[in-house]
Amino acid sequence: MELDTSEIIGQSTSLKNVFKVLAKVAPTDSTVLVTGESGTGKELMVRALHQGSARHDKPFVPINCGAIPKDLLESELFGHEKGAFTHALRTRPGRFELADGGTIFLDEIGEMDLSLQVKILRVLQEKEIERVGGSGARKVDVRIVAATNRDLDKEVQEGRFREDLFYRLNVIPLHLPPLRERGGDVSILAKHFLELFCKKGGRKKLGFSPEAKLALECYAWPGNVRELENIMERLSILAEGNTVALDDLPGKILSSLGNLEELEAMAAAKAARPEPAAVAALNRPAAPQAFIWPVLADLRKYDMNLKDFLDNIEERLLKEALDLADGVKNQAAEALGIKRTTLIEKLKKRNLE
Ligand SMILES: Nc1ncnc2c1ncn2[C@@H]1O[C@H](COP(=O)(O)OP(=O)(O)OP(=O)(O)O)[C@@H](O)[C@H]1O
Ligand SMILES: [Mg+2]
Repeated sequence: MELDTSEIIGQSTSLKNVFKVLAKVAPTDSTVLVTGESGTGKELMVRALHQGSARHDKPFVPINCGAIPKDLLESELFGHEKGAFTHALRTRPGRFELADGGTIFLDEIGEMDLSLQVKILRVLQEKEIERVGGSGARKVDVRIVAATNRDLDKEVQEGRFREDLFYRLNVIPLHLPPLRERGGDVSILAKHFLELFCKKGGRKKLGFSPEAKLALECYAWPGNVRELENIMERLSILAEGNTVALDDLPGKILSSLGNLEELEAMAAAKAARPEPAAVAALNRPAAPQAFIWPVLADLRKYDMNLKDFLDNIEERLLKEALDLADGVKNQAAEALGIKRTTLIEKLKKRNLE
């Protein structure tokens, strides 16, 4: 089975790394624990995982452990025998039995009670379940995939999640980075969803003004892809004209931006130079043109955090200075305006010596 990720949109390195793990783990029977903030696409990944496994023509059974009342969850998962409790009018199989041969997706597993966690651990170890009110164990052949937006490490430390279950589930961890760390994916996803919703609504294709595009790139997306998807749906209905302009965007995006004039100036500067300033400057040979300060969007576009970005710049300057000085460290240090010892330290840290 080939892994089909065609419905999962994005080209960032962080997403590609997730695909790599997904492709390796999908064909196995290993337990996978998917983590990530709300709306990052955990369920989408898990569905792709099941589709890419040998179990793809067997059931995929999702259950949201956080949405089912605690006292019903056990019988939902494991089923019950007639008369097991007041409302158990007839025998009912649970989700584990329904998923036999396939995959069960324990969503929001961080919400599960400690007492039930023991029972999940047992399924993982013994591959058998017991119905509520039942008198014997039944074998099940189910692959378990779990997801949570909680930090399970912390939940374990604070006694809310069993350590043994955590290790059993976390055989293959799959972490979905928040959208704000996926660089150019914001624009790609925005375009994708806006086109999709325009098409659905029978509306002509809409584009973004440079300011609106930049505003979307700068916004922190606390609700991740789900939030972006919803906002694009709204824009496809409410935006005036053929271009989504800055003031079409929801207030919470606008108010998070700070100075709008600055943003407009940034957008104009960006339009004037197709490549982000800093990276263009880095790729340019020595003869510098007018220096343009990097902007936040440069980080996003290149999928780097502040530290990587600054490290990158520093490394390039170090190399250039060394080249110019023909490897003579005293001279290189002088060109950089730092002490020779500092230069040596920096080179060591980067294995450039
Ligand atoms: N990379 C992506 N490409 C296209 N659509 C995506 C992507 N990531 C998420 N989505 C869409 O965003 C929405 C939220 O995704 P999903 O339900 O998988 O997130 P989640 O991490 O399970 O969220 P929650 O923690 O809130 O349950 C869905 O409509 C999904 O189709
Ligand atoms: Mg989900």
